[in-house]
Amino acid sequence: MKIIAIANQKGGVGKTATAVNLSAGLASKGYKTLLIDLDSQRNATNTLLLSEQITTTLADVLVGDSDRQSLEDAIYETPIDNLDLVPSHIRLAKIERFIELEEQFRLKDGINSLTDYDIVILDCPPTLGMTLTQALLASDFVIVPIAGDYYSHEGVIDLNESLQKARRGNTNLKILGYLMTRYDSRMRVAKDSLQLMRDKYKDLAFQAVIRELASIKTAPAMRLTVYEFDPSGDGATDYTAFTEEVVERLEMEKTKATSLHIVEKKKKAS
Ligand SMILES: Nc1ncnc2c1ncn2[C@@H]1O[C@H](COP(=O)(O)OP(=O)(O)O)[C@@H](O)[C@H]1O
Ligand SMILES: [Mg+2]
Repeated sequence: MKIIAIANQKGGVGKTATAVNLSAGLASKGYKTLLIDLDSQRNATNTLLLSEQITTTLADVLVGDSDRQSLEDAIYETPIDNLDLVPSHIRLAKIERFIELEEQFRLKDGINSLTDYDIVILDCPPTLGMTLTQALLASDFVIVPIAGDYYSHEGVIDLNESLQKARRGNTNLKILGYLMTRYDSRMRVAKDSLQLMRDKYKDLAFQAVIRELASIKTAPAMRLTVYEFDPSGDGATDYTAFTEEVVERLEMEKTKATSLHIVEKKKKAS
């Protein structure tokens, strides 16, 4: 099982778009994928589930004492084959207060107790707080989306500090790569931003670039991934190329036959 955090404390850089579409892309290749929504604003949750379907959320797993639920109890099937989701809740914002050392590993322990996933994707919040710390302590890899503007690069410096700190508790944590998102080739600033990213991060910069596209913006409002919204469109093309590069970097088989999995039925979101 590979655990990947999609992190950048700057909001609006495409973390959620990347978490949702990468998860769906991996699921379509046959990998049993679990997407965990760590953002109390619930954008990933709202794209894949109706709120009336949800009874248990990540907040019930991470917040509280003896009354806590197991992570397993907060897993829901999504309409997409091979893709399950752990929904977020506004109460998750409470974790942003100081938490005990033991609590920092609740997410990690919960994920480690799961057995039937190939990949777990964590959609991180736009803050450098305890939720991000929990995510970084639980992850093997981090993918950093950078939007095609100047400000996004500044945010990465602060993220690097959080990564350094998290490595004290998780020495295995590696950056899988930096991804240029929301790239508008008509804008000089976007070209400069892409060049800066490639100069700065060299091989860690993904070759795939996610363009600024109406389809990527519109799909979540219709509660769809880019692949369902327009399977042959530019959004699907960009996220497919990115997904393939992720698979390559993780050194996994290119596709995984679903029949190899014992597909256990999770709490059915009906
Ligand atoms: N490549 C893209 N092209 C167009 N709009 C995008 C793209 N990526 C994200 N967006 C839109 O920009 C906004 C912020 O993206 P989001 O993925 O929610 O960022 P984050 O999770 O980092 O805050 C959302 O409205 C989203 O639909
Ligand atoms: Mg988000």
